[in-house]
Amino acid sequence: MASKEVNNVCEEREHSQRTEGELSLFRSKLLKWFDNHGRILPWRGIADPYKIWVSEIILQQTQVVQGWDYYHRFISAYPNVQSLAEAKEEEVLLLWQGLGYYSRALNMLTAARQVVELYGGIFPREERDVASLKGVGPYTTAAIMSIAYNAPLAVVDGNVYRVLSRVEGCEVPIDTTPGQKFYRTLAEIFLDREKAGKYNQAMMDLGAMICTPSTPQCPECPVAELCLSRDNLELQQLLPIKAKRVAVEDRYIDYFLLLDGDSLWVERRDKKGIWKGLYQFPMQEQKGRFLTERQLNERYGEDWKLVETTDLPDHRLTHRQLHIRVHTYQWQGELSSAFESPLEQIAISDHHLYAFPKPLRAFLNSHFS
Ligand code: ADE
Repeated sequence: MASKEVNNVCEEREHSQRTEGELSLFRSKLLKWFDNHGRILPWRGIADPYKIWVSEIILQQTQVVQGWDYYHRFISAYPNVQSLAEAKEEEVLLLWQGLGYYSRALNMLTAARQVVELYGGIFPREERDVASLKGVGPYTTAAIMSIAYNAPLAVVDGNVYRVLSRVEGCEVPIDTTPGQKFYRTLAEIFLDREKAGKYNQAMMDLGAMICTPSTPQCPECPVAELCLSRDNLELQQLLPIKAKRVAVEDRYIDYFLLLDGDSLWVERRDKKGIWKGLYQFPMQEQKGRFLTERQLNERYGEDWKLVETTDLPDHRLTHRQLHIRVHTYQWQGELSSAFESPLEQIAISDHHLYAFPKPLRAFLNSHFS
């Protein structure tokens, strides 16, 4: 067995000093553990590439437990690629509401239409065709190809980075281009090429259930005897290494809930940013601080009375911490309120028909169930 030294220079480090015997032991221990302890998931045991694709995109957004419901709803609305291709953008966004990264849902719609146009509605089998679908990157390609067709491609997601860096006691960072290339090669070396689909899912389950970020369960780990970080808590906490720390910017969002009798005013976000295409209340976003009391009172003139301000929980995105407030204004004018497009007036009782960003969805559900 190799020494417990940590290696941190990609160029100088061999990809793996493992013998074929060790690699084969790793694979067999892992697969046996997966047979007995792998997670039972709705899309397991299914070889339909469409369903695998849907499950993988959902799992890029959320934890398995939460993803489960989304998966069932998505598949019952669109049981095959043809039905998704025929869907309306707004319906897909409504089903995706709460998952975040809405461009992924829109990309799926585009990709489904590509499958219909280019492949007659039959999900492609060739790696390069799968990889050419909108929103399908190397991870999703490897997952679909290996799980649906057992093609010998290794998936490399956050779980796999963590497992491999710990098993190899390797300090090569996972967020640089050479580092990522390094781990892709390492993953291909470890891959069980005969049982790629099962192996890939086993690696992801191991990362999710045993080799967890902060408290790995080494005594339960099927490959502990081969692991160079085993029993070394300090090393486990350190790995995997990220070279770049993310700078988080504070943003302050004031939303304006404009109530006029049984209706409220909404607008659709433009085609940019993480919430593109979703509905929202009119808003103002800025760096540094919220609007002042005076700005709020003067914003809509005398006929709109500010009646309540609600602080919502902060919403963390990769590079941003969003601080959010909703200001409720009540219309006091003699005639009905009026705004120009893009503002639209909707019945309060219809709010659930519109896809809103997660913080606003939670606010609406708690205020107008
Ligand atoms: N995470 C993402 N995709 C997965 C899969 N197919 N199995 C286990 N965990 C996953």
